[in-house]
Amino acid sequence: MTGRQARLLMCPPDHYGIEYEINPWMSRACESHHGKATIQWLQLRQIFEQLGATIELVDPVPGLPDMVFTANAGLVFHDRIVSSRFRHVERQGESAHFESWFTAHGFNVASLATPAPFEGAGDALFCGDILFAGYLHRSDIRAHTKLAHIVGCQVLGLELVDPRFYHLDTCFCPLAPGVALYFPEAFDDYGRRVLQAHIRTLIEVAEEDAVRFGCNAVVIGSDVVFNAGCDHLAEQLSVLGFRAHQADLSEFLKAGGAAKCLTLRLDGEEAAIWKSLA
Ligand code: ARG
Repeated sequence: MTGRQARLLMCPPDHYGIEYEINPWMSRACESHHGKATIQWLQLRQIFEQLGATIELVDPVPGLPDMVFTANAGLVFHDRIVSSRFRHVERQGESAHFESWFTAHGFNVASLATPAPFEGAGDALFCGDILFAGYLHRSDIRAHTKLAHIVGCQVLGLELVDPRFYHLDTCFCPLAPGVALYFPEAFDDYGRRVLQAHIRTLIEVAEEDAVRFGCNAVVIGSDVVFNAGCDHLAEQLSVLGFRAHQADLSEFLKAGGAAKCLTLRLDGEEAAIWKSLA
């Protein structure tokens, strides 16, 4: 298998904008540019296509500006999608639209039998056969217990202590089984020890790259796509044998998201990084 089979779900930014504030990056007072966001999104999509990925689209819905961040739709595992339960009312309307898309595209939609919030692939990332699951700001640790029953693999919870890194995919990025990027200060001591004990090669991302959402990267084979301006990270990746692709996503940083948040791996998050070895 190669990275060429990557299938990514994206949502065009037609209705994207900063209409509310649910994380420290969002400010309604800040000027955002719809045209610029559209260009940045199209350029990101083009990079994925040039890397051989297939892009599938879900229709954007007026009044749901954060629907562009498809990583939060749920967690794809084989032919199943574990649907999200958004913490904030502002995003709760997205679930019904994502669920209809998944049902129409042949996925079995599973829901966690708990009212506890769970924000999908934004907070649950496989590294090898372990599912690392972030909690506190968005997902609830009780949801992870239910998730473990559904996916049937080891789920290790990681508390996220810095509100700027409120989803796990903002501060942790698996690159291959046993290899991952992380921003250490986003975790408590215990979380750091869990990561160190289970991941052979953990690469520390510097704060200046972490605040530019360098960890919020999409891995397609040995290609890694992330926000522009993370030059030290690009060097770190090239030493490891990965090719870095930087895309200007400044308009999406204003909502607290970047490359990974704007995609959902439809070929299974669990498969994504295994393919990077091929
Ligand atoms: N404004 C969105 C929110 O706060 C950004 C989501 C970013 N998604 C992610 N997977 N980190 O929910």
